[in-house]
Amino acid sequence: MESVAGGAIAILDQEPLNYGSTSSSQPYNSPQSCCSSISLYSYTTDMDPTTFIREAAGRRYNAWQNTLYMLPSDQPEFLRHDKQHRMLQLALGSLYPDPQVVETILTPQGNERISILDLGTGSGAWCIEMAQAFPHADVVGVDLVVNASRTTPPNCRFEFDDINLGLSHFHGQFNLVHSRMIVNGLANYVSFLDDVVACLKPGGIVIMVEGDIRPYHEDKVTHYAPADLEAEGGSWWARVCLEAFQIMKNRGSSIDGSDEVENGIQHPDIVVCRTGTVFVPLGPWATGTTPEQNASLAEQGTLMAENAQEFVNALSLLFAEAGYDHDMVRQWLQRVNNDLDNRGNKREYVKYRYAWGIKRDS
Ligand SMILES: C[S@@+](CC[C@H](N)C(=O)[O-])C[C@H]1O[C@@H](n2cnc3c(N)ncnc32)[C@H](O)[C@@H]1O
Repeated sequence: MESVAGGAIAILDQEPLNYGSTSSSQPYNSPQSCCSSISLYSYTTDMDPTTFIREAAGRRYNAWQNTLYMLPSDQPEFLRHDKQHRMLQLALGSLYPDPQVVETILTPQGNERISILDLGTGSGAWCIEMAQAFPHADVVGVDLVVNASRTTPPNCRFEFDDINLGLSHFHGQFNLVHSRMIVNGLANYVSFLDDVVACLKPGGIVIMVEGDIRPYHEDKVTHYAPADLEAEGGSWWARVCLEAFQIMKNRGSSIDGSDEVENGIQHPDIVVCRTGTVFVPLGPWATGTTPEQNASLAEQGTLMAENAQEFVNALSLLFAEAGYDHDMVRQWLQRVNNDLDNRGNKREYVKYRYAWGIKRDS
């Protein structure tokens, strides 16, 4: 790794990353730090975040040797994160599940400074809104690529790092660690969980949110079968997700971790744990029992359909690198887009699972 003038940015060398490493911290004087050390690089406005970017097929991707995370990291993708963020906020009714529990933990005791960590922060929307909601807390968002287009509140900062390199520089420092929709960039879910729990202070809370790739029928129990070019029926969203997630798995991604979330935060240092699910309609077809619920479900459904369409279009490089036939993939993507454009035809739900757990006091 070679430093460039000013020392704030580094050019990544071409050696594969060593996922056995336990520490990734580098000395860097962070402008406002709630923690004694930081990730590989702290983002500052004099930094050029495009150093961490490579271009391929008209999109921008992270330029790390993390070859697991194959979705783009560019402005269209950050806008997709923002839609997903708003949609989940509506579905959960808050920035996090079980507000009473979370807000109690984020209430400072004496002179304690509250600190919050968001792993795989993406567009940074969650961090920024948490920093606004909890001005007495310091919020740190970590990602392979930082969205530099946002103005951040003074109690929020972003850092570049690959979580797979280890988080020992953060151990014991956070009241809340949040991770949402990041498992496809993880090499090992079990060691990730160990690291996340180690980042908590005693009595701190971890919150994880992950989606389920299988769409559900209106009954929220049975799955839509993946559609096929040779047969009638089924869901094209299910087909494309299934294929994409199989490729991610073959590349070594810990994608099955998204199912693990449903089993809770399984860790010996977690003493209280809760799980839950929310179902988001794929398109604005669902209705509730009040005008407010109807409006919320319509907005969630519209955001989910746009998010799904943009997600599917963002998968092109993944399919190309896996050697899939270009025309076949183009037909699949077209059919998902058609299904989503004709939103009234199918009544699909997407399930999101969340789990939170509180670390033992001592
Ligand atoms: C689907 S986005 C979700 C963004 C955000 N958590 C949200 O819910 O809006 C996944 C994010 O995790 C980041 N990510 C994935 N694997 C990572 C890793 N190993 N280290 C750091 N960031 C990672 C990606 O760069 C991407 O920004």
